[in-house]
Amino acid sequence: METNRTLGRSGIEVSPLGFGCWAIGGEWSDLGGQPLGWGKVDDDESVRAIRRALDLGVTFFDTADVYGTGHSERILGRALGKRRADVVVATKWGNLFDEDTRILNGQDTSSDHARKALTASLTRLGTDYVDLYQLHLSDAHPDQGARLRDLCEEFVREGLIRAYAWSTDDPARAAVFAEGEHCAAVQHALNVMQDAPEMLALCEELGLASINRSPLAMGLLAGKRQGPQDAGDIRSKPPAWLPGFGDGSEADPQWLARIDALKDILTSDGRTLAQGALAWIWARSPRTIPIPGFRSLAQAEQNAGAMEKGSLTAVQLTEINQILER
Ligand SMILES: NC(=O)c1ccc[n+]([C@@H]2O[C@H](COP(=O)([O-])OP(=O)(O)OC[C@H]3O[C@@H](n4cnc5c(N)ncnc54)[C@H](OP(=O)(O)O)[C@@H]3O)[C@@H](O)[C@H]2O)c1
Repeated sequence: METNRTLGRSGIEVSPLGFGCWAIGGEWSDLGGQPLGWGKVDDDESVRAIRRALDLGVTFFDTADVYGTGHSERILGRALGKRRADVVVATKWGNLFDEDTRILNGQDTSSDHARKALTASLTRLGTDYVDLYQLHLSDAHPDQGARLRDLCEEFVREGLIRAYAWSTDDPARAAVFAEGEHCAAVQHALNVMQDAPEMLALCEELGLASINRSPLAMGLLAGKRQGPQDAGDIRSKPPAWLPGFGDGSEADPQWLARIDALKDILTSDGRTLAQGALAWIWARSPRTIPIPGFRSLAQAEQNAGAMEKGSLTAVQLTEINQILER
């Protein structure tokens, strides 16, 4: 059984696994028509999945204002209802979007926008505070990051948020945010195919939680073998930052071969492949909190079930490194 985690230096306790709410936002795109969602979703199924996760002990949910241009926050708020106080809600800001056309149309690092975005997120989520507020612009200039970090301290003093984090894969940017007293975490990519040793070392050094996006390699580590058929799914037309899906019609054969080579270890002790991928993350560092995405009740049950099976062993971790030659 994997034990609960503390969100960095904040003292906020969360389940060892969070639920990532990007996919449940439904379809949206950028101004050029690039799909940014995961295709069509069934909102009632999303609500059922979240409530089942709550029943199974999941107490941490990650979303963003821009996911489905506001729709993900609304669905999460609806699903949590009166149970909102029992959970820890993380959301993000920094992108500009049109809720009616469902189009992402820019970015804004201004303090004014941050305050407006926070107010709008609170309304959509149906709450009067956000537990963890995250800067979504992974490559924003560190000076802008420093100013927004100080603004987040103001939000904490005003009782609008409890803690904050930068969603970035750059340890230097994470360190800028970490200078703030109430910075609790960094959100970054981590899965068995994409290790992040420098970021994990930084989390250890500065006492931050490591919140792990794409823990299932956007489905490949859950057994997906080919690209999606749905043209509204980002994986059908993968941008440069999304590895593993080849040209979108077929998954990258090299990724599939490496995942096949790890299958016996990941599925040890009765784990499904997805549960094994989460178990690798927990074994990697006690600071990790993977946030797998989901689109169905069945996926929610399986992913929450990973908590009961716990992490892989140190020996298995070494075997995996040998297989992947790293
Ligand atoms: N900060 C950022 O910039 C950023 C970027 C990416 C993600 N994130 C966060 O991280 C979360 C997760 O990362 P991710 O969205 O990249 O994807 P992920 O967690 O690596 O993969 C999620 C996908 O895997 C499939 N899946 C999940 N559980 C499964 C199961 N048990 N069996 C079979 N398939 C399963 C589903 O795909 P199907 O839809 O095909 O069923 C699901 O949508 C997001 O929801 C979001 O909260 C943040």
